[in-house]
Amino acid sequence: MQPLRRIATSRTIRRAAADHTLVPHTGLHIIDTPSRRARLFFTSTMRQDPFKPAARVAGQRQDVWTIVNEAATASPVQPIVNMGQGFFGYNPPEFVLDAARDALSKVECNQYSPTKGMSKAPLMVPSRPRLKKAIAKAYSPFFGRTLDPDKEVTITTGANEGMLSAFMAFLEQGDEVIVFEPFFDQYISNIEMPGGKVVYVPLHPPKDGATKTTSAGEWTLDMKVLEAAITDKTRMIVLNSPHNPIGKVFTRQEMQAIGDLCVKHNIIILSDEVYDRLYYVPFTRMATLSPEIANLTLTVGSGGKNFYCTGWRVGWLVGPEHMIKYVSAAHTRICYSSVSPLQEATAVAFEQAESHNFWDESKAEMKGKIDRFTQVFDELGLPYSEPEGGYFVLVNLAKVKLPEDYDFPAHVANRPRDFKLSWFCIMELGVAAIPPTEFFTDANAHLAEDWLRFAVCKNDDVLEKAKERLRGLKKYIQ
Ligand SMILES: Cc1ncc(COP(=O)(O)O)c(C=O)c1O
Repeated sequence: MQPLRRIATSRTIRRAAADHTLVPHTGLHIIDTPSRRARLFFTSTMRQDPFKPAARVAGQRQDVWTIVNEAATASPVQPIVNMGQGFFGYNPPEFVLDAARDALSKVECNQYSPTKGMSKAPLMVPSRPRLKKAIAKAYSPFFGRTLDPDKEVTITTGANEGMLSAFMAFLEQGDEVIVFEPFFDQYISNIEMPGGKVVYVPLHPPKDGATKTTSAGEWTLDMKVLEAAITDKTRMIVLNSPHNPIGKVFTRQEMQAIGDLCVKHNIIILSDEVYDRLYYVPFTRMATLSPEIANLTLTVGSGGKNFYCTGWRVGWLVGPEHMIKYVSAAHTRICYSSVSPLQEATAVAFEQAESHNFWDESKAEMKGKIDRFTQVFDELGLPYSEPEGGYFVLVNLAKVKLPEDYDFPAHVANRPRDFKLSWFCIMELGVAAIPPTEFFTDANAHLAEDWLRFAVCKNDDVLEKAKERLRGLKKYIQ
């Protein structure tokens, strides 16, 4: 280290010390200022890069979305048919769009939407509890009792921020959260931001998943491994059903076994049920299994997934008051409140969904898209995992032989085989799909390295175009 005098005058140091700041142009940082004598600490990182990002946002390797986008830009086959990300290729139904247009013209819908029990606070913006009421009404029949919209529902900025709020509400540094692999990638950073530690438990693909089409329900969880993952520090578990990316709907027995374990060990269950209206086999909600399980369960929902408007960022958590009040408190700290007019529109969407027969139609339509799209894999003889819910299809491409001398960029070449498959499909066929090992830890990535995830929530002409292009795989299949 250089002597202090040579890099900053004592006056500069004194001034900086008083300010508690970085000494300009020196890389010296005041970390403590006992009396008038500044104690300086040399931080080489600050000297080199004052904008070094915090670890929580600085990924070590390129994430899957960047790689897929890079391939999509570089591909000679344009425009790319995007079957990658799970956003809808079409609009919400007219009655939902109308509700949004109407909401924008109402004064109160363009102001803050309180999320907590602030409706009785006389000086607050008049509360519009319409969405909380609509959600309580929609969930009450499932839960078999009347939910209290003020105490048992909280509105969030998408399901994602709702889950972040739940982790912020309950995790202290070092608390453990059990997450199944593959996972929805946002869980990880949402858990780590408040200082939580993720403990992974893998779901296993069907043994014959590479040779024949199987059901997503055949992906299995080893309950013994799950129980062994529980420690004194386990505070929460995240369960996702219907599951992204597998499309598995956990059976009642599986849910019961997981729920009972959580009751035994007093673990909060974050039950991510954002695809709750898209199931093609019987679907069980965690919170309905027993009063003891309900007492520990936060159910997550998403207006974006329910009504084809992922960009609206309207989500919610439903659960007992003793948890919802802390989730609401965290949410208020994170973003104060969520977008008002689209909450109003989502409320109207819930109120009118039944009369438009929307839930049944939306389920039938999505199942139709799955059947329409997977037909190409039947034709090619490529096995897939038939979804029980949601809109993702995992296809097994073990039979696809990638050319040995194919020129993959280094950051793709050193990732598991599914990244190469994804890159290859984008470059050669112009079809984007997601490599699912991104949703596994390195240790378990081998479980999914032959699979690709396709999102079918696209217009039928897009699905047909994708099929036409995917037929190009034929010459690589062995
Ligand atoms: C399993 C799962 N949970 C939560 C979300 C996030 O939902 P939202 O868009 O409402 O934040 C997604 C979005 O893809 C998801 O797949």
